[in-house]
Amino acid sequence: MSTSSTGADTAWFTHDRFGLFIHWGIYSVAARHEWIKNYERITDEDYQKYFDHFDPDLYDPAVWAQEAKNAGMKYVVATSKHHDGFCLWDSALTDYKATNTPAKRDVLHPLVDAFRNEGFRLGFYHSVIDWHHPEFPVDGLHPRRDDLAYREANQNRDIAKYRAYLHGQTRELLTQFGPLDIMWFDFSYSKSDWGWSKGKGAKDWDSETLLKMVRDLQPGIIVNDRLEIGGDLKTPEQYQPRGWLQVDGKPVLWEACQTLNGSWGYHRDNLDWKPVEMLVQMLVDTVSKGGNLLLNVGPTARGEFDPKSISRLRGIGEWMRRHGRAIYGCTASEFTPPPDCRYTQNGKRLYLHLFTWPFGHVHLDGLGSRVEYAQLLNDGSEIKIVPIDPHQQAQNTTMGGVGADTLTLRLPVQKPDVTVPVIELFLK
Ligand code: GLC
Repeated sequence: MSTSSTGADTAWFTHDRFGLFIHWGIYSVAARHEWIKNYERITDEDYQKYFDHFDPDLYDPAVWAQEAKNAGMKYVVATSKHHDGFCLWDSALTDYKATNTPAKRDVLHPLVDAFRNEGFRLGFYHSVIDWHHPEFPVDGLHPRRDDLAYREANQNRDIAKYRAYLHGQTRELLTQFGPLDIMWFDFSYSKSDWGWSKGKGAKDWDSETLLKMVRDLQPGIIVNDRLEIGGDLKTPEQYQPRGWLQVDGKPVLWEACQTLNGSWGYHRDNLDWKPVEMLVQMLVDTVSKGGNLLLNVGPTARGEFDPKSISRLRGIGEWMRRHGRAIYGCTASEFTPPPDCRYTQNGKRLYLHLFTWPFGHVHLDGLGSRVEYAQLLNDGSEIKIVPIDPHQQAQNTTMGGVGADTLTLRLPVQKPDVTVPVIELFLK
């Protein structure tokens, strides 16, 4: 077990590399994005219909866990509460919870049990923002931000009371669900300023006390970077970093969180679905830069993964079944890959991921004399190393100008029938 300076156990995390993010709640009933209450400036009264119709009769988290496992995912981060304040577990501190909906039950414990049964590492996404809590001060992000009468009537809200609620619920999550591996808080925005109100951050959440409690209750837990202080994990969202993320010039622990179609919560009419090839390339790209990928599914209000999400998880799983060892336990390599390729490395095994399939040969600079054998990973078939005299002149079919410390591999014309072909290089 390697621990960071905060005591967080990060060894499993940098080995497993691939996790499932789950955004589920009453916004899944509206099916128009998890920020729907903000986007449409919906009142509590009007939003109540989603609470009254949250009835996931097809909900079976064992099926979710199986689909995630089959996709090659090793950990799960599930929403306990999102910005709308709805809680998926039977919190003693509120009535705004799943047990009071037609679901009539805590839907978070069964999820935790199902994923734990499949050997998953576990984490919660917990919103520090709460657009339902009566003491959460109205600000420029609040659904009622443009309702002057509402702002007027609610200007004496006491953030200290909300803070006690936030800390109380966090304690529930960290003491009622067994060992947890990740706490994914979301999000701080203290630099925002709307004139009539300011954003919220570490001071509002009392992040220092909150973080200390989290670490006291679950010492090895990994905490993300959205409390504005002291997290273990950088969390770039919906973009692929250009390289290993750095803070003050030092490479840090990082995890890209990505959606399948642009929305975290189930969004019925958002058809901007990423193809399987892009998703596999995003996973490879992330690990080639020393990061983890947390890929999201927004289950439906009936409690299922929708068919488009399932087909993408299965497509990724098909690739991971043969190529998992080019992801698990791998990290960035010191070598620079050819264009349209990525390297992942695990000790003496170097994996060349080809995002486009070139004709005939691929040239690997810096590997001239370092490779003893090469094979296609999907079928274990040999890939021939072509010995080339770096001084030879190009003449007819004789290749020239390859470079002194370059390894040249001969490729079949046919691209292997896999989403992303990988050549496994055995370093000397
Ligand atoms: C952003 C979104 C939020 C989502 C989170 C996941 O903060 O606003 O809705 O839950 O990202 O990374």
